Amino acid sequence: MLNIPELVLKRYERLKDELNRHNYLYYVLDDPSIPDSEYDRLMRSLQDIEGEFPELRSADSPSQRVGGEALKGFSQVSHNVPMLSLDNAFSDEDMSDFDRRIKERLKLGGSDKIAYVCEPKLDGVAVSLVYEKGLLVRGATRGDGSVGEDITVNVRTINSIPLKLRGTDFPELLEVRGEIYISQQGFDQLNQKALRAGDKPFVNPRNAAAGSLRQLDSKITATRPLEMFAYSAGQYRAQAKPDSHFKMLGNLADWGFKINRHIQLVEGIAACEKYYQQLAALRDQLDYEIDGIVYKVSDLQLQGRLGFVAKAPRWAIARKFPAQEEMTRLLDVEFQVGRTGAVTPVARLEPVFVGGVTVANATLHNADEIARLGICVGDMVIVRRAGDVIPQIVKAVLEKRPVGAVPIEFPERCPVCQSSVKRTAGEVVARCTGGLFCGAQTKQAIKHFASRKAMDIDGLGDKLVDLLVDQGLIYSVADLFELQTEQLVGLERMAQKSAQNLLNSIAASKQTSLPKFLFALGIREVGEATGQTLANNFGSLESVICAPIEELLEVEDVGPVVARHIVDFFNNPDNLSIIQALRQAGVHWQNIDQTVQSLPLKGQTWVLTGTLETMSRAEAKDRLQSMGAKVAGSVSAKTHCIVAAPGAGSKLKKAQALAIEILTEQQFTDFLNKELP
Ligand code: IVH
Repeated sequence: MLNIPELVLKRYERLKDELNRHNYLYYVLDDPSIPDSEYDRLMRSLQDIEGEFPELRSADSPSQRVGGEALKGFSQVSHNVPMLSLDNAFSDEDMSDFDRRIKERLKLGGSDKIAYVCEPKLDGVAVSLVYEKGLLVRGATRGDGSVGEDITVNVRTINSIPLKLRGTDFPELLEVRGEIYISQQGFDQLNQKALRAGDKPFVNPRNAAAGSLRQLDSKITATRPLEMFAYSAGQYRAQAKPDSHFKMLGNLADWGFKINRHIQLVEGIAACEKYYQQLAALRDQLDYEIDGIVYKVSDLQLQGRLGFVAKAPRWAIARKFPAQEEMTRLLDVEFQVGRTGAVTPVARLEPVFVGGVTVANATLHNADEIARLGICVGDMVIVRRAGDVIPQIVKAVLEKRPVGAVPIEFPERCPVCQSSVKRTAGEVVARCTGGLFCGAQTKQAIKHFASRKAMDIDGLGDKLVDLLVDQGLIYSVADLFELQTEQLVGLERMAQKSAQNLLNSIAASKQTSLPKFLFALGIREVGEATGQTLANNFGSLESVICAPIEELLEVEDVGPVVARHIVDFFNNPDNLSIIQALRQAGVHWQNIDQTVQSLPLKGQTWVLTGTLETMSRAEAKDRLQSMGAKVAGSVSAKTHCIVAAPGAGSKLKKAQALAIEILTEQQFTDFLNKELP
């Protein structure tokens, strides 16, 4: 280092510190203080110096996070303090047994309360990181708990792992343990990238994290969105040690580690149970996967007294959530036809309990998905159900493929009407070409037409629509208005009274609004909001029907695809004759006055938040939309006004921060009364 000017050395150290600090703000605290471009500029300055004076480049330099030379293999490392596993609990009873055993061993009374640290159990890969004098010197996998693999070069690429501890009061030797994982968002982006490159996507975030850490080429690891939460310390050489696990986590945070923000210190087992309920409810909203909760006795002295059995500590336990993935058999694949003719393969499964419910069906999406999965009828498959998301098939277990398993063939003809099934170039969806000749499409179109947000025909449920079409009583939505009592009476569960009720609601639905009618037609991609914007912009059905594509494209939120669907729909003579029949049957609405007065909120975006006390949210939305406003779900700089009803929370705060106009419920109702008496 003799011939490096003092000033350069100083500048180099300053740049390193600064980059490490910004790295910490960005990746650990999620609170960057400079734009990316500025960070890149600092990094280039650092690299310039390292280019000129290569001997300066040290392992803790932020420039080293991009990875280095590929390895031939990983060497083995033994863990001085073994990496233990955890016993599992599956019920409240298991949890109270755990608490009771601890108190018995510590000779405490039944009503004494132990302080427990409750932590999300992250579903990733466990690692050990060793810091000597504050510098990261080794990263290793858990392996069998005693011997793991040296993945130092790979962990260095992970931005939320400090290469150098922050502050000065860290132990001389510190081993930090934690879980490396990939967030849901990171996983989705990684898989999109893989698909674009024609590579096989990863099955789940855990596999993606494990696979990324196992790369011999750390340059590849560096491109993967790996993160780490620290959850304990292993080796610890210092003058003094904190007296509780909870304080230890606080120290780890001070030294620059990311600590999960849902970790809580509680007193007694009842509070642990409450925590379980809270976290289970939050699970679906987290951006990373957790498979349970880890409860740890916080007092380190008590931990020492409790000790271990076999490979697990007596002072900790993992309470598992119901599994989100299970194995079951694929019994059959059926092809369903939707309102727009889309043919969707649906897997029929041997019922299996997964994610807290019994699953017997799973969507297979489309032909590409079937090809990607390469599954056969008869295969054992992994089914995944996470949160409220519809169950998915993750993969086939090929080792268990039975003799005679049958490959799945996508039908060339519609299973309902036998018309040919076609796939438009560039689209993944295959569609039945039968249109309203296809019974399945007719049924779906009628169900949509009758639904609450469309024509709102009370009493016309899905089963009844199926029955009416199957019996040949109706062929299109227009036929609904021709139905007679005698045709209905005698149908399954249909007596004189219910038949009359149904006819009354069909008659009542004739008085509708233009937005609802446009939505009810079932034009592809025209949802409730687009129905409303079209109505607001054109005022009458005739104007929408006659609108050239250029005019449709001028409407906010109508892009080329939607515009094309609208034009195609009204170019189809069958659709026009159905509309004519509906009007002749008496379906009517009021056209929308196009003058500015009637649409005082045209071009504005409003947000409703909290629970309105004097009207329903749907009603408030209708009123706003009828005045031309767009009603959005979240607050942004584009929001004109928010209505903050009681219970308003983060949206209200955001609106305040952005200085957006805020109306109380009272002010809002006053405004409505003034605008539309
Ligand atoms: S503590 C002796 N805390 O669960 C304590 N483990 O079955 C052992 N895990 O291999 C670990 N989140 O990979 C602990 N907050 C957490 C955890 C956690 C996930 C994993 C870890 C370990 C496994 C134990």
